[in-house]
Amino acid sequence: MSLPADVLQTAAHTYGTPLYVYDAAELDAALARVRAAFGDARVYYAMKANPNLSLLRRLHAQGVGFECVSAGELARAAHIGAAGDRILVNGPAKTPGEYATGAALGATFIIDREEEVQLLPPASRALVRVNPALNVSTHDHLATGAAGSKFGVTLDQAPRVLDALRAAGHTALGLHVHIGSAIRDAHDFTAAFQRLGDLRAHTGPLDVLDAGGGWGLGADLHGIAREARAAAATFGAQLWVEPGRYLVAQAGTLLTRVVGTKRTGRNFVLVDAGMTELLRPMLYGAQHPVTPLWDRSGPDTQDGTWDLAGPACESGDLLGRDLTLPDPQPGDLLAIHEAGAYGAAMSSNYLTRARPAEVLRDGDTWTVIRQRETPQDIWRAEEGVE
Ligand code: LLP
Repeated sequence: MSLPADVLQTAAHTYGTPLYVYDAAELDAALARVRAAFGDARVYYAMKANPNLSLLRRLHAQGVGFECVSAGELARAAHIGAAGDRILVNGPAKTPGEYATGAALGATFIIDREEEVQLLPPASRALVRVNPALNVSTHDHLATGAAGSKFGVTLDQAPRVLDALRAAGHTALGLHVHIGSAIRDAHDFTAAFQRLGDLRAHTGPLDVLDAGGGWGLGADLHGIAREARAAAATFGAQLWVEPGRYLVAQAGTLLTRVVGTKRTGRNFVLVDAGMTELLRPMLYGAQHPVTPLWDRSGPDTQDGTWDLAGPACESGDLLGRDLTLPDPQPGDLLAIHEAGAYGAAMSSNYLTRARPAEVLRDGDTWTVIRQRETPQDIWRAEEGVE
């Protein structure tokens, strides 16, 4: 699942820490798992999970399309040569520029409210995002399909919006649903897809059902796929999916080095990565598996219980809690797993911290796919402005 300890150690010694390491074999394996479960469904990678150009190019070469939610993401898709039916333009507050770029690329739009029918460029292809009004088992910030959420149109509105699209000269391809992220309980998907399937009586057959993404690591992919396929069949539609996390999370590991230790009533291991490199523990209470890359087992070594604390001047800057680690020492390396999705993508320059380097291991070949930033990179846009 993850790269061996000696491989990770070599990477840290060669490229420094903090460092994001990606395993190309795991990326390919995740895509193969998706294709095995979802058969001939079209796969649109939600690039928000990790927009690194090298990863996008690798997925593009394997026939994957992209779900984009900003001008920047559309620019990335265009930059790597994606176009036409390989691009979806999504988002609750699209700008005029995003409509224009999407149209120029020949993309398909996912509309999020009825007013967008009038905002779309002439003769667009569009899907209607439906909010199934469901509570799902994930962190509140990651739930997008509950009643009162800002996303999509209501089940009641959906058939009317499809008609409005047709009346305005657009191609109404079908419906879209995305109930949230990091959802492990397949029943949540079953419930959502059934609510959409119930619309069949009001919509008639459709060309496309886009079942979104949101599959948590360890979720029953085949169970989710079975339900999604059944829902698509209800409409006589082709199935599309938009995985983000599932495709890239396990391929990525964040390497960090121990700076020192401290005991204040709790035991802290202080490391050189924190909320600026991996925000998920602080923002969602996410628990990423952490493994020590040192071996200090012996009769004198006592395992201790440690919190992993980053360098930021914020109390919430913890990457893990209550970890069992054998006698951590300055210079030791730790691997933080399942960090390929929403890790580097959500890193920041807070505290003028330079974003880490990112490297891809493909067989025996290592490639730097993002250079470590410098302070000068960070303040470049502030110079020469006065
Ligand atoms: N499709 C739509 C319309 C989405 O909004 C998203 C994610 C996806 C697909 C991909 O979802 P995934 O398969 O990755 O769960 N920053 C959060 C995740 C936010 C996801 C937002 N939308 C995190 O770190 O967990």
